[in-house]
Amino acid sequence: MSIPAQKLSPRFEQTLKSALAHFAPGADDRALASHVKKLSDYYLIAPGSATPWDKDFALPATLAYFMPLNGVRLAQVFREVQRFLPSEAITEIWDFGSGLGTTQWVLEDQTWLEPRPLYSIEISGRAAKVHDEMQTFGARWKSEARRAPTPKRGALAVFSYSFLEMQKTLPDLAAFDHWLILEPSTRERGRALMDWRSQFIAAGLEPLAPCTHSLACPLLTHSPRDWCHMRVHFEGPEWFQSMEEHLPMKNRTLTYSYLLASRVVRDEAWRGAARIVGDTLPEKGKTRQMICRGPQREFFSWLRKNGEPPLIPHGALVKDIGTPEIKGGELRVGPLEWTF
Ligand SMILES: C[S@@+](CC[C@H](N)C(=O)[O-])C[C@H]1O[C@@H](n2cnc3c(N)ncnc32)[C@H](O)[C@@H]1O
Repeated sequence: MSIPAQKLSPRFEQTLKSALAHFAPGADDRALASHVKKLSDYYLIAPGSATPWDKDFALPATLAYFMPLNGVRLAQVFREVQRFLPSEAITEIWDFGSGLGTTQWVLEDQTWLEPRPLYSIEISGRAAKVHDEMQTFGARWKSEARRAPTPKRGALAVFSYSFLEMQKTLPDLAAFDHWLILEPSTRERGRALMDWRSQFIAAGLEPLAPCTHSLACPLLTHSPRDWCHMRVHFEGPEWFQSMEEHLPMKNRTLTYSYLLASRVVRDEAWRGAARIVGDTLPEKGKTRQMICRGPQREFFSWLRKNGEPPLIPHGALVKDIGTPEIKGGELRVGPLEWTF
């Protein structure tokens, strides 16, 4: 048995293909890969700096590579929004650092969330213009550009790969009732986001996901090195895979860090749940997997003598862990049901 891979939704893929045909006509796999390499090198040299939308490689590289990957991560994170926020609690959505509208294209696939006001805040006129033109390819949602946020009660702020980049212009934490932040899963940015979690709690918001509680973050307080991140297995479409053959990096799994914080309190049904915050770690005589269900740094553990350990995806949620025997931070769990 293996962990199922996520794919681009047909609708999102079609939007990207239409945009590539329109904005990068005639670019073949090799040309696209060369643009991707340049933008990737740019981000490596200047981490956290703004996307260089004025460079000719930025647009095709974003459409062919960064948007599909960010979109798959964001779609996975929206499963948690659906799990914890009732649709009627979200009155409008503000997309900060919206780029070419990754948030909008992921919203198009959220059948549980009927379209409602969607506002995009994007500093680059070029990116905002391309995003606007892309809406003519067919969209249920209608994104409107705004210079500054004027949220009403029930507004959701979305930051997809833009939160730590926009530190100097962040709105007041109390201005939004819900916050969804997705960041690259580097140690530095993951830990910075874990630090922000306490500021959201101090502002009266509850960290609904990936956190299972509002107590101290065990990865932050019990380790100088760990950072909370998730992993999703990815199977790109054929055109993506053939472009990827010309790239030094392969994307079989995608990692990310995220935080969903809200004034909506955690549903009682999820109290005591455990989040899987690590990959399976095979060791001599046992297999361990890090979990989060409170302020302690803990692991599920399965002894080899009891048979094959289960394959639980990194990021899954276990609602009921039963009453396992606990030994030195290890929970000797039995069969478990999980959702992902
Ligand atoms: C890495 S891109 C992410 C784009 C998109 N959210 C995504 O997930 O694909 C970050 C975006 O934030 C924008 N940005 C950076 N600083 C900003 C600011 N102060 N106000 C508005 N947009 C900003 C950049 O121009 C860029 O389009």
